[in-house]
Amino acid sequence: MACILVTGGAGFIGSHTTLALLESGHDVVVVDNFTNSNPEALQRVKRLAGRGFLHYQLDVRDHSALDAVFRQHNISAVIHFAALKAVGESVARPLEYYLNNLGALMVLLGVMGAHDCFRLVFSSSATVYRMAAESSFREDAPLEAVNPYGRTKIFAEKILCDLSASDANWKVIILRYFNPVGAHPSGMIGEAPQGTANNLFPIITQVAMGALPEVRVYGNDYPTHDGTGVRDYIHVCDLAQGHVAALSLIEQVNGAEAFNLGTGRGHSVLDVIRIFELTTGRRVPCRIVERRPGDVAISVANPAKAIERLGWKAGLDLTAMCRDGWRWQEQNPYGYALIESTI
Ligand SMILES: NC(=O)c1ccc[n+]([C@@H]2O[C@H](COP(=O)([O-])OP(=O)(O)OC[C@H]3O[C@@H](n4cnc5c(N)ncnc54)[C@H](O)[C@@H]3O)[C@@H](O)[C@H]2O)c1
Repeated sequence: MACILVTGGAGFIGSHTTLALLESGHDVVVVDNFTNSNPEALQRVKRLAGRGFLHYQLDVRDHSALDAVFRQHNISAVIHFAALKAVGESVARPLEYYLNNLGALMVLLGVMGAHDCFRLVFSSSATVYRMAAESSFREDAPLEAVNPYGRTKIFAEKILCDLSASDANWKVIILRYFNPVGAHPSGMIGEAPQGTANNLFPIITQVAMGALPEVRVYGNDYPTHDGTGVRDYIHVCDLAQGHVAALSLIEQVNGAEAFNLGTGRGHSVLDVIRIFELTTGRRVPCRIVERRPGDVAISVANPAKAIERLGWKAGLDLTAMCRDGWRWQEQNPYGYALIESTI
């Protein structure tokens, strides 16, 4: 039976997408090395879906292990999430990022080609867009990354374009995510980063829990309605549905095509904190500090192409993102880790 291979399926977006795929009737196989995730996430996906799937603990760069998975299963398409994603860490350890993110992609493409599997949905990011003073990005906006993580995504996109230009068998959908937040409404799966939280939303939830003293807001002198940076936050469940839509469209694309996955609406850092406080009843102290180099005032998706071609539109608002993200955090204050260590 044909199935979808999900790399990095135990991660934040991968676990929600694996669930959405199962719920939409796909059979799924997951591979993950659990470098930034926990196998417990997959057990919970199985429970939520009410059905099982196989998963393999392996590094996508391990050619023979990945090849064995392709020999074992009839894989019709791959959704490739497996990557390292911390911007600051990528600046400190660029080689690790290039080796992991590009190395994994190269090995994956080689193994796919060897098994006549030519359908790929690739996780890219809004960080590929060239920064501008105020921006609502269309997919044809100029690309330029300012850190090694972002460059791994640009290089990966170029590799995918070159490959599909060289061989018409390939059909690739590149999804550029804006700012994924929230969690499954059950509170059973969510974002559980290993180590320190780097993104605004996990920091807010940790401050609300009392695990961190305050949210540091980097700059309040940007040309935005309240001076703080504006981003396009998207509920991870909406994002997951975007992948299901991508699989439905993939036969119709020519070569490699990019799509923004965002809501098209921007919220400032202070908006997010205010809506989080209103939704959860928790106080989130914050302190304004210096701007961070590399940050832009506004980064919002133009989602028109995804709406028109993928037939996909984000439906959940910031209140739902805060409500669901908080439910996950309250029910799992230590992510998946404590469950494992206490069993
Ligand atoms: N979360 C975001 O804000 C965001 C935004 C834009 C793009 N993305 C991209 O989306 C994808 C998924 O992000 P996420 O937030 O779910 O991250 P995540 O860290 O939660 O998930 C990534 C998963 O990949 C696994 N992994 C990493 N390298 C691997 C390798 N070599 N072999 C096997 N498994 C490996 C990790 O263990 C983890 O489970 C990534 O490619 C990321 O760059 C994420």
